[in-house]
Order: sequence, then C-alpha cells, then structure tokens
Amino acid sequence: METRVYIETHGCQMNVADTERAATGLRKAGYQITESADTADVVLLNTCSVRERAERKVFTRVGEIRHNAEAHKPVIGVMGCVAQLEGEAIFDNAASIQMVIGTRATDRIASLIERIKDGERTVIDLAERQDGENWDVSPVERHSPHVAFVPIIEGCNKFCSFCIVPYSRGRENSRPAVEIVKEVQRLIQLGYKEIHLIGQNVNSYRPRSSEGLKSFSGATPFCKLVRAVAETGMPRIKFTTSFPRDFHPDIVAAIEEYSNLCDWIHLPVQSGSDRILRLMRRGHNAASYLEKISVIKRASRRLSLTSDIIVGFPGETERDFEDTLALVRECQYDGLYIFKYSQRPGTPAAKFDDTVSVAEKKARFLELETVQREIQNRIYRNYLGKSLSVLVEGRSTRSESDMTGHSTCHKVMNFRGEPGLEGQILNVAVTEAKTNSLYGELLG
Ligand code: SAH
Ligand code: F3S
Repeated sequence: METRVYIETHGCQMNVADTERAATGLRKAGYQITESADTADVVLLNTCSVRERAERKVFTRVGEIRHNAEAHKPVIGVMGCVAQLEGEAIFDNAASIQMVIGTRATDRIASLIERIKDGERTVIDLAERQDGENWDVSPVERHSPHVAFVPIIEGCNKFCSFCIVPYSRGRENSRPAVEIVKEVQRLIQLGYKEIHLIGQNVNSYRPRSSEGLKSFSGATPFCKLVRAVAETGMPRIKFTTSFPRDFHPDIVAAIEEYSNLCDWIHLPVQSGSDRILRLMRRGHNAASYLEKISVIKRASRRLSLTSDIIVGFPGETERDFEDTLALVRECQYDGLYIFKYSQRPGTPAAKFDDTVSVAEKKARFLELETVQREIQNRIYRNYLGKSLSVLVEGRSTRSESDMTGHSTCHKVMNFRGEPGLEGQILNVAVTEAKTNSLYGELLG
C-alpha cells in the first residue's frame, strides 16, 4: 500500500509554497498526499519561528497528533524554520519526532522517509539546496486553483536586529527570470487568474544571470522582472514583501504602465522612531520611508498600502511609540499587521534589555490598533458606491448565500452569489464597509 503523507502548514506564504513543492516531490516519488493527520503514516509539520508563540505551537501540535493517532503512531517530522534553527535539539525535546527537515531540504523528503522505513531511528537534513533542483509545483498541490504563489527569491541578507529569518532561511537566492516567466505562462494555461510573486524581500531580487530580463526596461532587476511577468498577460499580479530601503520609484512606474500589476503594495515600516529604526538596523528612517510613500500616493491610480509594525522593541519609550502613531496617521494604511516584540534567541536584539513590560506592549498594541481602526474605517467607507474587480475564490465562511474573494487592491470582498462563480473576475459594487472587509452586490 502507498505510504500516506500529511503536511500541515504554519506561518508565511513561503511555507505554503514550500509545502506545495514538497508535496509535488513526494507524489512523484510514489507517496500519497492525504488531508488528515489521523490516518496518515507520516505527518510533517511545516513550522514558523518568527515569534516565540509560533515556535511553541510545534510541540503542542506534536502532542495532539500523537494523542489523536494513538493506534497507528505515525512517523512525525518537523520541517521549515523551527527545524532549521533547532536541528538535532528537536529530537531531545520531543522523542516522538523522527525527522528534522531544514528549509532547503524540501526536495529530499522522499529519501529521508525511505531511510526511516529502512530502520533508522531519526534522520536530519539541514543542508543547502542542490544544483539542478528547481521550483516544480504540480497544480494539484497548489493551495488554490485560482491564486498561485510564485517564489522569486528565497532567504534574506538584511539581518534586521529583531528577526530570525536570515538564520532560518539563509542567504538571498534569486530564481532565474526565465524559470519564473515560464511558470507564470504555465499558470495562465492552467486557468490561474492571479499570482503573488513572493519572497522575504521581492525587490531585492538579483538573479545570477540577466537572461530573460534584457529586453525589459527597469531601474532594478525586480522592476524588469515585474514588467516581464506583466507581459505574459496573467490577469492579476501581486507581490509581497517589499523592503523599504530597496523600494525603487520605478516599481510605481511599472504599476502605472501595466493594468495587470495590481494596486496594492505591502511595505513594512516596523517603527516610526528613527532611534528605534537604527537599533532595528532597518536601513531606513522615517523620512526616507515617507519619501517612498509619497511616490506611492502620487500614482494616478490609488494604490492600496499595508504595513507591519512591531511595538515594544527593547528600549522603546513612550516618545518612540508616539512617533510610530504619528507615522501611521501620516501613511493612512489600508491595513496594518501589528506585532508585540518577541525576543528571538541568536538575533542581535536578543542581547538588548527587553525593557518594555508585557503590560506596556499590550497597551501600545491596543492603542495602535484603535488608531489604525479609525483610519481603516474611513478608507473602507470611501469605497461605498464604488465598483471593484473581484476574483471569486469560494463560498464565504460567514454566510451560506455569500461568496468571497479579493479585489485588486487586496481587500476581502463578500457578496451575495451562488457557488459556480469561483475563478471568475467580476465587478462588485460596494454597499457596506466593515473594518476588515467590504460587502457588495454583483454588477450584471
Ligand atoms: N520580509 C519578511 C518579514 C518576515 S517577518 C516578509 O516577507 O514579510 C513578518 C513580520 O513579522 C515582520 O515584518 C515583523 O513586523 C514581524 N516580526 C519579525 N520578527 C519579529 C519579532 N522578533 N517580534 C515581533 N515581530 C516580529
Ligand atoms: Fe526579517 Fe528584516 Fe529580512 S524583517 S526577513 S531580516 S528584511
């Protein structure tokens, strides 16, 4: 009988993409991919370590899986960032874990499982990607039949002082442009309507060869790449995440040139205080960030803007936090992900005194959330009466009679509609504005 493998994905879009890639390889090697941990022979947890809470979740999940699948005791493996960072130590922490699969070992999982089958008690692979491995994802493994994630750059060289990602995902490694464009063309043939070019810092894209980019204009390789991808005719193209220091105004110019480059930019600022930004080693200050924002705001189409902020970074004073509030008011974000600082062992900031108390972090989180909610309510109300182009992704979880999707500006849009509309791009008139979503009526 075929060995059944279940992969559970936590964390960011890159983990979703890695799971798709791992599942593709496993199926090719003769494994069956299943949807339930309870009946699987092998359970793999694709993990996140960006904050402490995410990391702790791994061990709780392992306990639950062991408990629920008591009878047949599946082989349990940990992949992703926690695997890469903790390595061998994972075996000591949880005796039921038999496989540790690092962030660049996604193409070698089948052979690791074989070794367990052959009687090895534990296996571990923290090595780099091998030459010749390429990002091959079969459509059946994609998380959606309409929206596809296309990784363009792995890893991170920025070493922001709070962040574990450069340690868990290694150095920046850009995929060849020809390979990316070919994948997008294949996705068009398969009927995909939207792609997200993904990477920790998409605009730091710097492939070893300029093959596939030469005939495109652009101030940076990323600007050339987005134009090359736009030329494929993929209906909707989004990209995340952009790194402020490397955000070139030519990206906005490209969005102006191609209507299929969507009107949404995610540009994490982290703090509004120059003192904290320096300690975070972000490579930008409030003024240089706001310059980039003003280019975005001057675009002829209104571009939706979202960001990430960390509250309670070591040494953050009430004054620093006020600078953050002021910057958020000035930027008028369409959406904001707020995080309480979480100390990550091994990062430079872990050596700083974590001076902001849990209670202060919480208070700042709530205050910022309130400020953002007011801004967002106003922005969302501004959509009332307007029509948005929506890619229908499925039935709404809230109501049986509603469908849901995203606008080009990456707003969640729900509307009265029947199943069967999935995968279509439709115009929806906004009739109601909520804090985090819009509601509307299908236009004929
Ligand atoms: N460039 C990456 C960032 C990855 S981490 C990207 O693709 O989005 C996502 C967000 O988590 C960061 O922007 C930051 O706001 C937050 N974050 C990272 N490390 C953190 C930490 N130690 N504590 C709290 N939040 C953190
Ligand atoms: Fe992390 Fe900064 Fe890179 S937030 S992912 S080190 S750009």
